[in-house]
Amino acid sequence: MHASCSCSWESKTIPPRRDNDWDLQSRFKLKSKLKMYLLPGLSFGVILYWLLSTYTLGSLGREDRLGLEGLLEETRGGPGHSGVGGFIVERSWAQYSPYFPVEEYKAPPSGCTIDQINIIQRHGARFPTSGSSKTIISAVTKLKAVQDTLVDPKMDFIRNYTYDLGTDDLVEFGAVQSSQAGEEAFNRYSHLVSPDNLPFIRADGSERVVLSATNWTEGFSIASSLNIPLSSILIIPQDSNDTLDDNMCPAAGSSDEQTGEWLGAWGPDVTTRLEEGAPGANLTLEETYALGTLCAFDTVAHTSTPPNPSTSKDTRTSKLKLKLSPWCNLFTQTDFKALEYAGDLDKFYGTGYGQPLGPVQGVGYINELLARLTDSPVKDHTQTNRTLDSNEETFPLGRGLYADFSHDNQMIAIYSAMGLFPQSSPLPPVPPSNKPDPSRTWKVSEMVPFGARMVVERLSCSGSSYASASGSTDKDKFVRVLVNDKVMPLAFCGASQEGSCRLDKFVESQAYARNDGEGDFEKCFDV
Ligand SMILES: *[C@@H]1O[C@H](CO)[C@@H](O)[C@H](O)[C@H]1NC(C)=O
Ligand SMILES: *[C@@H]1O[C@H](CO)[C@@H](O)[C@H](O)[C@H]1NC(C)=O
Ligand SMILES: *[C@@H]1O[C@H](CO)[C@@H](O)[C@H](O)[C@H]1NC(C)=O
Ligand SMILES: *[C@@H]1O[C@H](CO)[C@@H](O)[C@H](O)[C@H]1NC(C)=O
Ligand SMILES: *[C@@H]1O[C@H](CO)[C@@H](O)[C@H](O)[C@H]1NC(C)=O
Repeated sequence: MHASCSCSWESKTIPPRRDNDWDLQSRFKLKSKLKMYLLPGLSFGVILYWLLSTYTLGSLGREDRLGLEGLLEETRGGPGHSGVGGFIVERSWAQYSPYFPVEEYKAPPSGCTIDQINIIQRHGARFPTSGSSKTIISAVTKLKAVQDTLVDPKMDFIRNYTYDLGTDDLVEFGAVQSSQAGEEAFNRYSHLVSPDNLPFIRADGSERVVLSATNWTEGFSIASSLNIPLSSILIIPQDSNDTLDDNMCPAAGSSDEQTGEWLGAWGPDVTTRLEEGAPGANLTLEETYALGTLCAFDTVAHTSTPPNPSTSKDTRTSKLKLKLSPWCNLFTQTDFKALEYAGDLDKFYGTGYGQPLGPVQGVGYINELLARLTDSPVKDHTQTNRTLDSNEETFPLGRGLYADFSHDNQMIAIYSAMGLFPQSSPLPPVPPSNKPDPSRTWKVSEMVPFGARMVVERLSCSGSSYASASGSTDKDKFVRVLVNDKVMPLAFCGASQEGSCRLDKFVESQAYARNDGEGDFEKCFDV
């Protein structure tokens, strides 16, 4: 059972976890088991506090704001392509950008209180997938092969460089950011949870997603001083009906055509420049792109911790710091803008509006969201698992806080199914003069960076400007959607200036989901 998490104290109090597969029968026993290991809550708490006080969990301390500031400093100090004109290099890495809030969080409009939240969050920073690491490794190998005849001094580091990244897994920085997201969620929404109204948490079955969820849960619980025990996590296997992954639409196409066109436009010049610095390396266009992504992957994989955290009394110095990888120095600001646009195209034509069968893959989640927002059973005939969703143990209604853990492609499908980030025309695979429009509103770095989150807040509002009629509770309910802390305008449901829509208008606006994708889901199987 996936009750709770694989935390460091798990062996002391929590039964060992099984494989990534959800056992409904044991789920039924969960409540009693939870009681069993939470009843001796005192000793549990004591152990945890001891751990905290000995800094074993120091990286989770409240003061401990992770690395981005540190990273920004590094970036501004970096050569050539940083700080200039407000350009922040690590925010140009599209889906490989580390999480950052796009705007400062704003409290809901006055007269409104939040009475439910639904979070869907991407796993934290990870290693390259096994597929993309193959190209990265071949590029690095080619450069190493000519390391004795490198011409560009910025490439000198290659002589001493050893590629040491794993594949697919969450990196430490990603784990810490996930935990901080849990801490932030508690600090922001603590009034919605209590020992009798625990967060309800689900994760797609991929390991990095599950670990992001357990780290989040740990951060949440610690921020609550353990008043909120570690929640159980419902893990949804990837080979089953899964609303947290884009795995159920075999006929959906890919973005290869559009990203290939774009690479053909910006890649040759950059490849030529790299070749001039490393004569004889013979990099392909794909390898040039791969080296650009290595800047991001190598950076998030190598965090520095202070030499002696246990002797330091200042938790601020014990934070993880990102330091830009030397690979980043091989690319200019213009290159990074091109790389960023490659990510934007990839997601737009992968599961976004540019993919005819993209948005439909987000429908199952939207229907689950509507069920939670309206406290009524799920109505869906797409990706949901009807067995899970019709059981109150595995799909409870009436909770204050729901958190689901997922992937970038799936979150893009969900945004597009909902109608977020609307586009008046498709993204051009090759923009005029090879310059991506800087004012475009489809920027993947701001949509699905590592650790990205969409939060749907249900508001309960009173007062003349909000409640149009008294007596009916539904009329006092509003919805606000934030993506990475930026309030979405929700024009599709007639939102106020402040971005809140009446709940009934919001539900009405979700006709595509309520109609099971209006025939698109069936097309998923026309292969
Ligand atoms: C957090 O994630 C890391 C992997 O990146 C993992 O080793 C650790 O066990 C996780 N911690 C919890 C509490 O889930
Ligand atoms: C590579 O490592 C050697 C030995 O540690 C060192 O002397 C040299 O300065 C390093 N070169 C670069 C370019 O970092
Ligand atoms: C639905 O969930 C149940 C309970 O976990 C599981 O046994 C079943 O395999 C799932 N079915 C599908 C089609 O996903
Ligand atoms: C690049 O191509 C040249 C000519 O085909 C070849 O001699 C050389 O070995 C290649 N370099 C690498 C690193 O593979
Ligand atoms: C899984 O989804 C398919 C497609 O909608 C559906 O036919 C099937 O009944 C679902 N299975 C469960 C257990 O919900």
